[in-house]
Amino acid sequence: VPKPRTGSDDVVIIGGGLAGLFCALKLAPKAVTVLAAAPIGRGASSAWAQAGIAAAVGAGDTTDKHIADTIIAGDGIVDEAVIGAMAAEAADRIHDLLEYGVPFDRDLEGKLAVSREAAHSESRIVRVKGDMAGRAIMAALVAAVRKTPSIRVLEGYVAEELIVEDGRVSGVVARDKAGSGEELHRITGTHVVMATGGVGHLYEVTTNPTEARGGGIGMAARAGARLADMEFVQFHPTAIHIGKDPAPLATEALRGHGATLLNSAGERFMLPLHPDAELGPRDVVARGIFAEVKAGRGAFLDCRTAIHDFEAEFPTVYGYCTAAGIDPAKDLIPVIPAAHYFMGGIWTDIVGRSSLPGFWACGECTSTGAHGANRLASNSLLEAVVFAARIAETLKSEMRGDAPANWQAGSVTTDEHMTENDHPNMVALRQTMSAHLGVLRDGEGMREALRAILKLEAESHSVRFDNVITTAKLIAVCALNRLESRGGHFRTDYPQEMPFWKRRTIVALDQANAI
Ligand code: SIN
Repeated sequence: VPKPRTGSDDVVIIGGGLAGLFCALKLAPKAVTVLAAAPIGRGASSAWAQAGIAAAVGAGDTTDKHIADTIIAGDGIVDEAVIGAMAAEAADRIHDLLEYGVPFDRDLEGKLAVSREAAHSESRIVRVKGDMAGRAIMAALVAAVRKTPSIRVLEGYVAEELIVEDGRVSGVVARDKAGSGEELHRITGTHVVMATGGVGHLYEVTTNPTEARGGGIGMAARAGARLADMEFVQFHPTAIHIGKDPAPLATEALRGHGATLLNSAGERFMLPLHPDAELGPRDVVARGIFAEVKAGRGAFLDCRTAIHDFEAEFPTVYGYCTAAGIDPAKDLIPVIPAAHYFMGGIWTDIVGRSSLPGFWACGECTSTGAHGANRLASNSLLEAVVFAARIAETLKSEMRGDAPANWQAGSVTTDEHMTENDHPNMVALRQTMSAHLGVLRDGEGMREALRAILKLEAESHSVRFDNVITTAKLIAVCALNRLESRGGHFRTDYPQEMPFWKRRTIVALDQANAI
């Protein structure tokens, strides 16, 4: 395996998903090294996104309506300046993606086609071939990155530790997965950007890839970065319940197109639970489904009459169903809530700067304040591209020159088939998180979870697992600390929203350890 050169004037980006690759492209022609645990575009939740990107580009829509919908969904704690910037820049970022070759769907007049999702007051989801947005966006960006001479890609390198010198983040220690995977590399630069995604794999049922286990967030916390809103995990109501890990997603757009939810007794159980029934807020629908599953009645999506040509309109979901022997034109689709998106993460300001000098973050590993307690559907890809671009713009103005003539661009791939090896305690951690920090929480359960997490932490003996367990611990501490229910955080012992808690939680690891 060729050794990665350590640069002195380049940006090191950790993560090969949408946020990391978009930031690298926007930084061109500055020298950038992208470090990814899996081949870029794989192992990233972005590639699995089905619905698309929210942008007020449809007739009658406005950025103000997009902002208002996001604020309502976020349940009182959205940072209005942040969503204001995101909504305002959405059309420009969609334009960038078109330039990189993303084939967004068009209507008969050639304008961008937009579709509707729950909690959006207008049709504003820009999509690709129905439910293939993530895959198409990532394919276009991977191709663009591979052609860009200022971007060096190191695939199969797992970041383990941030290098902090004189109070400034100046690089990362990474382990390559080739051969024994024993070799450690120091990869340095003038700025480090974290774009490692979310935490879904901390839970037993998740729609996220195995790489999404909070390692980057924990690494940042251990280096001293501030975190925000760590108690807020979003559970998608309708993962397909066929015993697969990760669980395939049945996009919310199905319900947007009229699919209903039934239990095994044939009852539309969401009708009494929310005026918008199946199109109620994501957390309300997730709790409705969770209750049916817990009661042994099960929950099922009924798409039989609502979707006319399932294969053409939702090819990805159709593929998942038919592979499991389910014909959605005739059969009900069994569903279960699944850990899907993390509203918490590395605290960043309005340009993506963290609390540590030299250290930036974008995408799901951050908490910008855009999502509050509950993310509005299809705002996540938007947040990733807006903040990746904002970081690039700020850094470009601070960097001296472009990539030097001797810059070794191209890709170094240690192993095409690399997979993340699970620490032996990962199973126990996922069970603990699902049992006590899932859709429903209470003080007693969360205290038990914290005790179990601290025991697993003491037994870790692995830097990589230390990072993961740190994130789990911060979720548990922050969830225990918030004595109310709001958005994705629902406590059966404090089921109401409390005015005192209408605020974000900002915390550092040493404070959490002291609790
Ligand atoms: C979905 O397609 O239902 C997921 C969209 C999102 O999580 O933003």
